[in-house]
Amino acid sequence: MNEFHKSVLLKDSVEGLKIKPNGIYVDVTFGGGGHSREIIKSIIEGKLIAFDQDKEAIKNKIIDKKNFMIFNKNFKNLKTQLNSINIFAIDGLIADLGVSAYQFTDNERGFSLKYDANLDMRMDQDLEKTAFDVINKYNRENLSRIFKDYADFKNPNFIVDEIISSRNSKIIQTTFDLKKIFNNKTIGLKDNKFFARIFQAIRIEINDEINILKELLSQSLELLRPKGRLVVLSYHSAEDKIVKSFMKYGNFLNTPKKDFFGNISTPFRLVTKKPIVPSVTEINQNNKSRSAKLRICEKL
Ligand SMILES: C[S@@+](CC[C@H](N)C(=O)[O-])C[C@H]1O[C@@H](n2cnc3c(N)ncnc32)[C@H](O)[C@@H]1O
Repeated sequence: MNEFHKSVLLKDSVEGLKIKPNGIYVDVTFGGGGHSREIIKSIIEGKLIAFDQDKEAIKNKIIDKKNFMIFNKNFKNLKTQLNSINIFAIDGLIADLGVSAYQFTDNERGFSLKYDANLDMRMDQDLEKTAFDVINKYNRENLSRIFKDYADFKNPNFIVDEIISSRNSKIIQTTFDLKKIFNNKTIGLKDNKFFARIFQAIRIEINDEINILKELLSQSLELLRPKGRLVVLSYHSAEDKIVKSFMKYGNFLNTPKKDFFGNISTPFRLVTKKPIVPSVTEINQNNKSRSAKLRICEKL
């Protein structure tokens, strides 16, 4: 097991790429490098290009092979970055979204419910906005939006009221300050579940995960060659909805696009009609995999 991060659905996701030994592949979420290390085994004359916006991931066990290259960049820069090394078409792309285990277990980065840390949650340490800004400066409307859209709270008013009334008397500085606001007030949910959803919403907002996922998918469509594969692992409903709609219809509206004559056009063939999810054994070995959904499609 890789201590830095244990890869989820490793076999299914790498097989999903249907790797050609001379193809060009991209792993946009290097993390602990588990997927990349598996992919590179099947590449002979081709290339594997990886991305991770987190400096820690880049420091971690880089693959020392001449057909591997990694960029410490946000994957919203996918196309520009690939073009800069004269790559204009690719044979497959894998995105294993969200946060790595090493980010959670770092007790200073504010991702985890378990440690008292400054409200940070940036995957890219150079971003200006942190979780502190969201919690202490966002207005009512924006707080409601993130808890509704990114944490599935149908009525987030209670959460927003508590945050605003608390910060009016004292700045909310750390993760534990945030948790204290909701002592014994987790609306019938288990503490861990409640806080996991609150933290998730803030993290998605800070890292602009939804908008950037849409950019990634759109750029992938432009870059993939016919028969090229797109493999995406998502971990919550907000991102899975986007991936599902894009793979099915080539857009984010969850409806097919029709041409002038009413014919439906779609850019992909679905390889997975339903998402692949981890087995009970995998979940028992790696609890973080429990919410994973793997979707795969092939460019037509
Ligand atoms: C779930 S982990 C990937 C784990 C990896 N597949 C493995 O097997 O070790 C997700 C990684 O993607 C990175 N990441 C998330 N969003 C990103 C983005 N927009 N651009 C670049 N990297 C991103 C995170 O920093 C994190 O290291």
